[in-house]
Amino acid sequence: MKPRKLKKDVYWVGAVDWDRRLFDELIPLPDGTSYNAYLIKGSEKTALIDTVDPTMANELINNLSQLDVKTIDYVVANHAEQDHSGALPQILKVYPDAMVVATPKCKNLLMDLLLISESKIKPVEDRGTLSLGNKTLEFIHAPWVHWPETMLTYLREDKMLFTCDLFGSHFASSDLYVTDEATVYEAAKRYYAEIMMPFRTVIQKNLEKIKDLQIDVIAPSHGPIYDNPEFILQAYRDWTYAPPKNIVVLPYISMHGSTKKMVEYFVGVLVEKGVTVKQFDLAGTDIGKLAMALVDAATIVIGSPTVLVGPHPNVVYAAYLANALRPKVKFASIIGSYGWGGRMVEQITGMLSNLKVELLDPVVIKGFPREDDFRALDKLADDILNRHKQHNLVD
Ligand code: FEO
Repeated sequence: MKPRKLKKDVYWVGAVDWDRRLFDELIPLPDGTSYNAYLIKGSEKTALIDTVDPTMANELINNLSQLDVKTIDYVVANHAEQDHSGALPQILKVYPDAMVVATPKCKNLLMDLLLISESKIKPVEDRGTLSLGNKTLEFIHAPWVHWPETMLTYLREDKMLFTCDLFGSHFASSDLYVTDEATVYEAAKRYYAEIMMPFRTVIQKNLEKIKDLQIDVIAPSHGPIYDNPEFILQAYRDWTYAPPKNIVVLPYISMHGSTKKMVEYFVGVLVEKGVTVKQFDLAGTDIGKLAMALVDAATIVIGSPTVLVGPHPNVVYAAYLANALRPKVKFASIIGSYGWGGRMVEQITGMLSNLKVELLDPVVIKGFPREDDFRALDKLADDILNRHKQHNLVD
């Protein structure tokens, strides 16, 4: 993609990665992604905000060349992760006079990860500023969006906030700005769930920190740019602050049909009681969809057969993920089946230690479900509904 003008003397110069399907060798990218970098030409100095993934360094360099950029004075590194910083070494080769601007923590990471010389990095304090002549950059330290060194850069005169990972979406598009809010909302929510949710409470503090800034445009380093910033700010307020909703997330797997029969019955009862259920068969689910469902859910119920005295390995993965993502769920339980014994309940609950949940009585049965087992599932559904009502989560 060629460079694109955002405002007078402010350009998008990044790269769109339409075909990438996995991030960090972990996160599925059904819609690809982009690495947004921005060029700001002040009357005296020129700054580049972030770079791109090292696999696409040539696209960034070509874009700068098309804009006839002869000198870059500063490269602002909002984040040290390589999808934004990885092209720094090449940029510093092409523009040897450029100084890298970063938080003190980011400086250390850039030296460790990319072997950039200390003398090339200028650390900046929280709320520090840098004049480009007729344009001013203000740096806002915003740790843990997504690593401990992250910061945001505010371009005062144009009221633009460059947020790197924060507010981003893995969404490759030829549109520079958000055009279809519903589609971008889904992509941004998936991104929040997979990358930002573990830092929910810190993000609340960062949202507080920027609440008095006048912002016309939010320009993240992944996905479309927001010329209606309230759209994404409101979404983040909802995902981070709002109480969970009357939703049960039910990741499960079944080997011979017993757990599946329990899941089918249990989901039917919950729905009858007015509880929304999001059910995921872990034999083939998109793990990103499960993460998204956890953003709003009040309860997680994990369904598993017993394999070698413990849960099925796919369930172990899902439980580990849910624990790592630290969603705002309040209640948890386990349903499933065994043949001759096991320690599935202890093993799954032991994996959910990060979640501040009340564990509701599990229903783990021997063999295929019988009448008493369905009554136990009825009781678990009642327990869930009552807890949701007690917490005012039911309309
Ligand atoms: Fe887009 Fe944390 O890197």
